[in-house]
Amino acid sequence: MGQEITVIGVGQMGTGIAQAALQVGYSVVLIDKNIDFLNKGFARLTTNLDKALEKGKITAQEKEAMLKRVKLSQTMDAIKDSSIIMEAVPELIDLKLEIFKNADKFCSKDSILATNTSSILINRLATAVSDPSRFIGLHFFNPANVMKLVEVVVGEKTSKKTVDESLAFITSMNKIPVKVNDAPGFISNRILMVFINESITALEKGIAEKEAIDSIAKLGFNHPMGPIELADFIGLDVCKDIMDFIYLETKEEKFKPSPLLVKLVKEGKLGRKAGEGFYKYN
Ligand code: 3HC
Repeated sequence: MGQEITVIGVGQMGTGIAQAALQVGYSVVLIDKNIDFLNKGFARLTTNLDKALEKGKITAQEKEAMLKRVKLSQTMDAIKDSSIIMEAVPELIDLKLEIFKNADKFCSKDSILATNTSSILINRLATAVSDPSRFIGLHFFNPANVMKLVEVVVGEKTSKKTVDESLAFITSMNKIPVKVNDAPGFISNRILMVFINESITALEKGIAEKEAIDSIAKLGFNHPMGPIELADFIGLDVCKDIMDFIYLETKEEKFKPSPLLVKLVKEGKLGRKAGEGFYKYN
């Protein structure tokens, strides 16, 4: 495995993945077409490293060395030396297909093309690249620099070599890979989104206040966050996009986003990142 990876998309997940890679010694090419997003992503990464420095988890020299290993680019030609091309853009299938079509033209023929999609079928996204044997799902969890799990989603055409190299890559990031087969929402979001959706439905029906629902999950199941605050943390638009995709593919009612979730998304109350979702944030 080479020492450079590319991360395409510098939102919350992209910068978290980049940080995790930098902290174990990789160089990272960060790509976003939009210069403002790129600069914001780099600023978020710098702030996260500043927090790690304040906590004494890294030294000032380590922080500087990590930032020096970051290359920012608005164009795909910068990815040619990367051993893994990690896509982490919003959950829009056409956008992801376009990005992989473009990345396929510039990447090395030995590199792995990986998507951080939370729900979209790997087999569908793999149609964008010339060699689907090198295509795989590497699904990180938010905050990606902290959470141990990476759900490794193996497509029908993913080769054993790609799986083995991906498992080694995840392990080298001090994370724990768990392999699953391709299906809408994989395992993690099939479980999590039903849990979140049912919690919102219970709130909507007036069975309990949001604080009570969250307390039940925290105190009764030892979850670090309750389902309502977790939905805010993930982003209500992200939760809705995931449910929409799984529902569209499976037609199973349990995945249909609850009317209250749809309403909040329409109102722009997207959760923590927007300052308001189910809860308010300053
Ligand atoms: N971004 C980056 N890092 C963050 C963060 C954020 N928003 N929030 C917290 N952290 C980091 C802190 O810096 C700290 O890092 P350190 O251990 O290196 O110092 C670490 O997380 C612990 O933070 P705190 O001590 O301040 O706070 P908590 O102990 O309350 O933990 C939490 C915060 C890790 C977010 C914890 O509440 C938690 O585990 N929540 C559940 C998260 C979860 O379930 N994530 C999965 C969501 S599903 C998903 O991502 C899949 C997708 O497809 C939808």
